[in-house]
Amino acid sequence: PLPRPYAVPLPIPEVARPVRSEGGADHYELTERPAEAELLPGLRTQVWGYGGSFPGPTIVARSGRRTVVRLVNQLAEPTVLHLHGGHTPAESDGFPTDLVPPGAARAYTYPLDQRAATLWYHDHRMDHTGQQVWRGLAGMFLVRDDEEEALPLPSGERDVPLLICDRSFAADGSLLYPALGGGRPGVREAYMGGVLGDVILVNGAPWPELRVARTRYRLRLCNGSNARAYELTTGGPITRIGGDGGLLAAPRTARTIRLAPGERADVVVDFAAYRLGQQVELRNLAGEGPQARVMRFTVDRDEPDDSAVPQRLSAVEALDPSRARVTRDFTFSSGGLHGGTGWLINGRPFDPGRMEARPKLGETEVWRLTSDVAHPVHLHLGHFQVVSVNGERPAGPPEWKDTVELREAQTVEIVTRFTGYRGRYVLHCHNLEHEDMAMMAAFEVV
Ligand code: C2O
Ligand code: CU
Repeated sequence: PLPRPYAVPLPIPEVARPVRSEGGADHYELTERPAEAELLPGLRTQVWGYGGSFPGPTIVARSGRRTVVRLVNQLAEPTVLHLHGGHTPAESDGFPTDLVPPGAARAYTYPLDQRAATLWYHDHRMDHTGQQVWRGLAGMFLVRDDEEEALPLPSGERDVPLLICDRSFAADGSLLYPALGGGRPGVREAYMGGVLGDVILVNGAPWPELRVARTRYRLRLCNGSNARAYELTTGGPITRIGGDGGLLAAPRTARTIRLAPGERADVVVDFAAYRLGQQVELRNLAGEGPQARVMRFTVDRDEPDDSAVPQRLSAVEALDPSRARVTRDFTFSSGGLHGGTGWLINGRPFDPGRMEARPKLGETEVWRLTSDVAHPVHLHLGHFQVVSVNGERPAGPPEWKDTVELREAQTVEIVTRFTGYRGRYVLHCHNLEHEDMAMMAAFEVV
């Protein structure tokens, strides 16, 4: 039986404390280890946790200030740490074969030469990302900057990270990841589509409840699910203020927020629109039955609110696709893998040694992405803007993204510019089972 919805309070992952700050850098230590957690009321679940918790601690960092994370691997499996949305030098980006063996440690350096944004970190081991993230290796990472802090947005307890992911559990509370086996790395063909869980967790709790004041709240939504996309609604208006790559130029009112795996949305909900005692469900229009629910807000008090959502949030540079001298094509489709079927890019399975592209540092490029079925495509290093979807310009001013959902049989053109660092990075599908079934390509910024 599934746990009862709205029976547990929303946990807020603790904010990591630096072990030291020196030379203009903050140093953190993250130990990955197996741990027991009470995810479902009354049951013990073994997770693999950063710092022994799932989600891992939230790292709150500052734009332009170096953050060094020393990863200590106390698991029995190799791991790789990736800061999703980080503008990171190649040697710290977590290339999928850049393993930290069991018992070893490694420091990842994040210069964070980037705007304020809601990022997240997770495991990225080649062929094993789906199962290792499923077991718990994920956490939020917030970058703040002066521009954002000068805005009167809701803050403190009213700035809430919401890491949403689905999981399945056995009757004894253990996590069920059904896709293993077949005698090879990656997942079994029966799970080609990706692994969906029947329990929706927010910050590690099933369908939790958050008690809120009749004020504005900033919700940092992150889809950390392996394969599930959400279409979120409160039933009322939601003001979207940011996406993967930080603040929008101006707020946009939305009825629903679509989030494919890996994507984030920064939104403000004003609970003053509700009366005391009212319960506001955050629902998922892309799910049915229990999976149509996500969490619930209960409006239980009046409090003063000096926050506001200004009409002008940030200056967002528009990348000009007509300045691109290179256009590249990437086709995402199924195809032969290990004598069976897998997911390929341009007809080839991931080969960490083969560079699919060699973009030049600092040059604007247009990448044309084409899908067979839906694939959330994530690009490392280069933040991008969507130029067109099936030839049509998207509505509204450009925004920075690092993950874009290709729906079935779509062509999405993105414009990007790789800045800052040369070296090897990846582009992949963020459906983690697709990724583990080889839907990834390496490229080298030269
Ligand atoms: Cu969120 Cu390459 O990953
Ligand atoms: Cu995919």
